[in-house]
Amino acid sequence: MKVLIVGSGGREHAIAWSVSKSPKVDKIYCAPGNAGISEFAECVNIGAMEFEKMADFAEKQEVDLTIIGMDDPLVGGVVDVFEERGLKVFGPRKNAAILEGSKAFSKDLMKKYNIPTAGYENFDDPEKAMEYLRTEARFPIVLKADGLALGKGVLICNTLEEAQEGVKEIMEDKKFGSAGNTMVIEEFMTGREVSVLSFVDGKTIKTMTSAQDHKRAMDGDQGLNTGGMGTFSPSPFYTEEVDAFCRKYIYQPTVDAMASEGRPFKGIIFFGLMLTADGPKVLEYNARFGDPEAQVVLPRMKNDIIEVMEACVDGTLDQIDLQFEDNAAVCVVLASEGYPVKYEKGIPMYGFENFRDKNEYFCFHAGTKFDETGRFVTNGGRVLGITATGRDLKEARKNAYEATEWISFSNKYMRHDIGKAIDEA
Ligand code: AMP
Ligand code: GLY
Repeated sequence: MKVLIVGSGGREHAIAWSVSKSPKVDKIYCAPGNAGISEFAECVNIGAMEFEKMADFAEKQEVDLTIIGMDDPLVGGVVDVFEERGLKVFGPRKNAAILEGSKAFSKDLMKKYNIPTAGYENFDDPEKAMEYLRTEARFPIVLKADGLALGKGVLICNTLEEAQEGVKEIMEDKKFGSAGNTMVIEEFMTGREVSVLSFVDGKTIKTMTSAQDHKRAMDGDQGLNTGGMGTFSPSPFYTEEVDAFCRKYIYQPTVDAMASEGRPFKGIIFFGLMLTADGPKVLEYNARFGDPEAQVVLPRMKNDIIEVMEACVDGTLDQIDLQFEDNAAVCVVLASEGYPVKYEKGIPMYGFENFRDKNEYFCFHAGTKFDETGRFVTNGGRVLGITATGRDLKEARKNAYEATEWISFSNKYMRHDIGKAIDEA
């Protein structure tokens, strides 16, 4: 088989690694990819939003399966373009990717089908939003831009003044562009966060092992929100009881709701959950693997990823027995000092040879490229995801932090408390 992967981050590197293990696959392409991905895949210079160009490429190279890693092309309808041209593709169509693409849509869906989530109101008029804040809101309160905003469109506001400023930023100043034409105002919840990723074929859902992300830039969950600074899997807080609840009230009901709406979902649903005192509730849905969640979940998956993805496309997921290793994994992101605001790029990195021939250690590339002399240099805020497995979370964490020392670059930055919550479990 020939496989094309669309995206350029640590998630796509983890997907490429996983695909490379499939005995069915003999050629992998990645568009646009990055320096690390080129170890497994031929990187092709096509942007993730160049749908026709990408489909032309898939047709010409006789690609058997295209895997869309990123949210923007999914929400933009890349899957529809591929399907119209008779090309096999893994991911939701545009009318289903809206589950991630519009928070107002997903909140209304949950309300209509009684799927547990925070109370909310949607607004497309800033005046009405301001009035609601003055008259009905309780603080803290959460403001969310409706559309995709690189994971940054969520504001937690402690006071009326902060919230009014937030409405101005999102809806009037359009800080997140058209993503802020509509806004959700949502009840603030407290509890532990867990991410559960799943494979879906339109009707059947198979969940993967749980994971937890660390979204803030600094130790102790301080600093700005980022794409994610590290993950661990499984989450010790995701108990069998929580799992049973979510199966009954969240996972299958979401898949059924999408089917009932005439928007059958095929691909990955990522459930962002909060374990509140009133039980698990949905924080958000994503329509693709999480990043860096994929970097701890995929190294633990036993199945051939191609078989599972083909079953999703063909509607035969019920025949797949999805299995994970009885171990744990921790991923620590090595970022550029100053991320997510301002940072230098093009810095040479050293030490990759330390990962060679070590099955329990992974160095997934997020923002890297080759310079003119063929050296690895940094090319983004999140640079590398250092993942290690271990018999349990403590061992995996120790291994991962040890491996972070094997790589050096002058502006290397990381959090030192990824997976620290394990100690409290
Ligand atoms: P989201 O992109 O919706 O996952 O939101 C980003 C982050 O904001 C989440 O991971 C939570 O930490 C936080 N968050 C979102 N919604 C709420 C809420 N209703 N209550 C408390 N925190 C929230
Ligand atoms: N790590 C969170 C996300 O991928 O959205």
